[in-house]
Amino acid sequence: MTENTTSISAASGRAAGKVPLISGAAQGMGASHARVLARSGASVMIGDLHHEVGSALAAEINEELGCEAACFVPLDVTRFEHWTVSVVLAEATFGKLDVLVNNAGIYTPGNAAEASIEDWQRTIDIDLTGTFLGMKAAVPELKKNETSSIINVSSIAGLVGFKNRAAYSAAKWGVQGLTKTSAMDFGPDGIRVNSIHPRSVETPLTAGLKRGFGQVPAGRAAQVEEISSLVLYLASDESRFVSGASIAIDGGETAGNNLRQDS
Ligand SMILES: NC(=O)c1ccc[n+]([C@@H]2O[C@H](COP(=O)([O-])OP(=O)(O)OC[C@H]3O[C@@H](n4cnc5c(N)ncnc54)[C@H](O)[C@@H]3O)[C@@H](O)[C@H]2O)c1
Repeated sequence: MTENTTSISAASGRAAGKVPLISGAAQGMGASHARVLARSGASVMIGDLHHEVGSALAAEINEELGCEAACFVPLDVTRFEHWTVSVVLAEATFGKLDVLVNNAGIYTPGNAAEASIEDWQRTIDIDLTGTFLGMKAAVPELKKNETSSIINVSSIAGLVGFKNRAAYSAAKWGVQGLTKTSAMDFGPDGIRVNSIHPRSVETPLTAGLKRGFGQVPAGRAAQVEEISSLVLYLASDESRFVSGASIAIDGGETAGNNLRQDS
């Protein structure tokens, strides 16, 4: 596609006119969401700890689309003041904020007996409290629009038990609870709140993890773009009657007990 046709399709795309703020968007799934939303017409705020990588991604998107479609903002999701600056910057740069994607997250291993208290606290701080702080900072701005969308990234570890992931699972279940409660609280303000629950996606977070796909009917990991398609749907007005949903995007893994050949 040429620069001009890319710009034209972005201007009339499924997320045309939307202004999303995506946390943890310098790499992995967040970076893919930023690319896909921008290509679909959104003006995207890329928030992350990693200044250089995040700024380079914003520059790459702007170069590809031939317009100012992306802006990087330094964001540590555990710092409320970073969130408030991010929201102000979205308003100052693109005129509003109407989509929040709480994507930043870390994973720590260990069951409740073995996980360190430090790992527990860090995981809860980033994966759960970070999501709460993002919503706390963004909701006043989101309320100003006729319709807004919050997309909280959980995991299948927030839908079912997940062996040896005590802190991660607790945090991701917490994200689901916060999502459903907030859908009740902010629905009257025109804000939809949904959680998405991926299973193994090929990203730097999962690089090096030993994983089997025997329990996954699809028999494979997801590509980041497959998750971004769902984020695009939830960011756009196509999902205007979808709120409080916990959407599994897991190749069918949590549909039931996928008995192995030998069982
Ligand atoms: N990859 C998977 O298989 C998978 C499956 C289910 C859910 N998830 C969830 O999806 C989300 C994205 O995962 P990913 O695989 O792309 O991860 P990743 O590690 O590839 O990327 C995470 C990004 O978050 C950023 N980040 C980390 N701590 C941060 C903080 N305190 N403040 C701001 N940014 C921070 C990192 O710098 C990085 O850019 C996470 O919430 C993760 O738990 C991932």
